[in-house]
Amino acid sequence: MRVHQLPETLINQIAAGEVIERPASVVKELVENAIDAGARKVEIATAAGGKALIRVIDDGMGMDADDLTLAVRRHCTSKIDQRLDDISTLGFRGEALPSIGSVARLTLRSRPHNTPHANEVSLAGGVLAPLRPAAANQGTTVEVRDLFFATPARLKFLKSDRAETAAITETVRRIAMAFPAVRFTLSGPDRSTLDLPATGEDRLARIAQVLGAEFAANTIALDAAREEVGLAGHVGLPTWNKANSLSQYAFVNGRPVQDKQILTAIRAAYSDTLPRGRYPVAVLWITLDPALVDVNVHPAKSDVRFRDPGLVRGLIIGAIRQALLAGGDRASPSASVGLAQAFRSPQNAAGSAPVEPFRPGFAGSFASRSPAGGWQATTSPSRPLNGVGTGFSEPAQPEIAETAMPSARSDDSSTDLSTVENPLGAARTQIHENYIVAQTRDGLVIVDQHAAHERLVFERFKTALRAGKVASQILLLPEIIDLPEDDCDRLAERADDLAEFGLVLERFGPGAIAVRETPAMLGEADVAGLVRDMADEIAEWDSSTGLRDRLEAVASTMACHGSVRSGRRLVTEEMNALLREMERTPGSGQCNHGRPTYIELKLSDIEKLFSRR
Ligand SMILES: Nc1ncnc2c1ncn2[C@@H]1O[C@H](COP(=O)(O)OP(=O)(O)OP(=O)(O)O)[C@@H](O)[C@H]1O
Ligand SMILES: [Mg+2]
Repeated sequence: MRVHQLPETLINQIAAGEVIERPASVVKELVENAIDAGARKVEIATAAGGKALIRVIDDGMGMDADDLTLAVRRHCTSKIDQRLDDISTLGFRGEALPSIGSVARLTLRSRPHNTPHANEVSLAGGVLAPLRPAAANQGTTVEVRDLFFATPARLKFLKSDRAETAAITETVRRIAMAFPAVRFTLSGPDRSTLDLPATGEDRLARIAQVLGAEFAANTIALDAAREEVGLAGHVGLPTWNKANSLSQYAFVNGRPVQDKQILTAIRAAYSDTLPRGRYPVAVLWITLDPALVDVNVHPAKSDVRFRDPGLVRGLIIGAIRQALLAGGDRASPSASVGLAQAFRSPQNAAGSAPVEPFRPGFAGSFASRSPAGGWQATTSPSRPLNGVGTGFSEPAQPEIAETAMPSARSDDSSTDLSTVENPLGAARTQIHENYIVAQTRDGLVIVDQHAAHERLVFERFKTALRAGKVASQILLLPEIIDLPEDDCDRLAERADDLAEFGLVLERFGPGAIAVRETPAMLGEADVAGLVRDMADEIAEWDSSTGLRDRLEAVASTMACHGSVRSGRRLVTEEMNALLREMERTPGSGQCNHGRPTYIELKLSDIEKLFSRR
């Protein structure tokens, strides 16, 4: 075949292959056009997941007859002129409308300010219908019907109506978050209506509309800058985590993006406070000179390329970590509001449903603060030992005689209140062999000693690593552990990494590993359990798991096994030592799994419970 110029419709269909992947992409392009046209109100309607119909009505500046005819032609745009390095609009490629019109039935009806009537133009499968007058309010209405009717191959790849409907909702939420001054409505027979009234300059109010009213209470604001790059936003407390990354929103100079580099930077910032597979909530606005970022990377414009990616990554990680350090302790104390509700007075409880068990992890009355389902007291490696995993869930001790509580203890020295002024107060007693009850100046603190200790061991590992090799202790007899062959391979491959942590092991024939040294910090550790967990951990690594992630994962796995204090009775001095170390250790408000390590109940809350206030 000879080289020849392709027909215009085919060119547009090829372009549509990249820009218009699914109905949500059409919605994105049309809503972005409405915003670029200065709309204050954008009404979106869809049917059958956007496959049958997508209609976007805006009250923006509109187009006159000449603009309308040009708008549906390829490479026609009002948004850029000569240069690509100073883009302040969402669109600039001049290809969205002709692409849509080449694969669907597109109608544009528009009426600019101060004109007596509207005009209409249509493009169906690339075939243009002549311009004609129409009746419409000021602004623009765009209708897209029968998406992909002209490219049936693409039609086959679409997901169910329900999935496409959900993707459209997600797209609208993302754009809406970036433009709080614009009102958005999204409706149709395929969905429940989403109405987001304008909130003006108030970004937080818009975020609350999109992500729920609990957003503000569960996030920390940040505001940082490095060189010429600014970063503002809100990041979630580690205890408020999600099962996917959909609750992470990033905007570069106001443009909603779903950029991989930004998402990985967010993940890295939380790497030692969240377990694998859990995702933080984050809303970040990055601002920089438009010349320092290229938005012309992909036709869908959801990726960007920074001139200095390292700078942006460092800024994101640094600012989030800082915010978490400064606000991290909030994780637990603010839970006391919900905690107060978890208690019921005997009158209320009598004859009614059984008192809801009060569980570590707070699965009950303040589920929104709990680590969202991913964690279970009975399966977590950091569960308290000795079968006390259900914490306080046994019925309240009924008789006075029993309130001596066999598993509660206090000794005389616990009346020493000299440390009560410290943030975590003076240890008074230990109950159920895992919870330290401490008295503070204006309330009480309950510490999950296992979770707290795990965090402290983790931090100690990190400190020791920074200072050089972690001290190990040589086992008198090497411990031989039977393991599946591929686990042995993985461990042997990572033997050098593990030795850095003081875990010295080698292959011991087929299907076995010999452990010669263990990290001194762990004391009498369950070596077999540790090595098995480590093998599981390593199995999850792939080529993209960076060194830092690997080190943190090893430290975290080891810390789980190093928390020997769980289920162990502590004397007051030990308890106080733990509290003081927690106060000194940054980020000790939650364990490595994102759960709180302690909760605080203010005296005022206690008084409320007893109706004294
Ligand atoms: N809702 C609208 N209101 C007013 N003008 C519009 C509207 N939608 C499109 N236009 C005009 O039509 C032109 C073409 O739109 P189109 O979306 O195809 O390209 P673009 O927005 O310029 O670039 P991109 O392909 O990156 O979206 C726009 O530049 C704009 O002038
Ligand atoms: Mg556009």
